Amino acid sequence: MSFTSEVNINQLNELYPQIFPQVNDKNGVFGDKAQWYGLVDQNRLVAFCTIGVVNDQTIFLYNVGVHPTSRHQGFGCKLMENIIEHYKKYDIVLFVNKKNRIAIKLYQKYNFKLAERLFIPPLGEICMKRCYK
Ligand SMILES: CC(C)(COP(=O)(O)OP(=O)(O)OC[C@H]1O[C@@H](n2cnc3c(N)ncnc32)[C@H](O)[C@@H]1OP(=O)(O)O)[C@@H](O)C(=O)NCCC(=O)NCCS
Repeated sequence: MSFTSEVNINQLNELYPQIFPQVNDKNGVFGDKAQWYGLVDQNRLVAFCTIGVVNDQTIFLYNVGVHPTSRHQGFGCKLMENIIEHYKKYDIVLFVNKKNRIAIKLYQKYNFKLAERLFIPPLGEICMKRCYK
């Protein structure tokens, strides 16, 4: 299994709507500057996420998703560990739906804390932040 910044666009376009059917623009506010990362297992994209650079000390993590048939096997953790290592000098901010207990648990495991006043999340979501030190 490998972590890559060169995500196969065809595999991404196939998997993305299975995980986030409600999202129209997967690149979100970062547009062309969005950087995709993926976990590939035997040539198959099993997990992905997007990073947008907010400033020289903060990145924004979004679109964290694991293939529906590959969940609860550690891929979410593997993705988080690779992102944290890759951006080890950065604080990481994200928004997550307040009812998404599984994702919140995953983020808490990697030391993300509630940070409501920093960035204003969309309705129904919370903002979490992980400080690099
Ligand atoms: C959230 C998501 C990325 C987790 O990925 P995953 O590969 O299943 O996660 P892992 O197997 O690495 O498990 C990581 C942690 O998540 C939690 N978790 C994962 N699946 C769970 C389940 N079915 N029930 C309860 N907790 C669960 C656990 O805390 C787990 O850690 P633990 O095993 O040490 O207790 C995945 O469920 C997903 O793609 N969900 C849909 C998209 C989504 O909601 N993305 C988040 C957007 S902000």
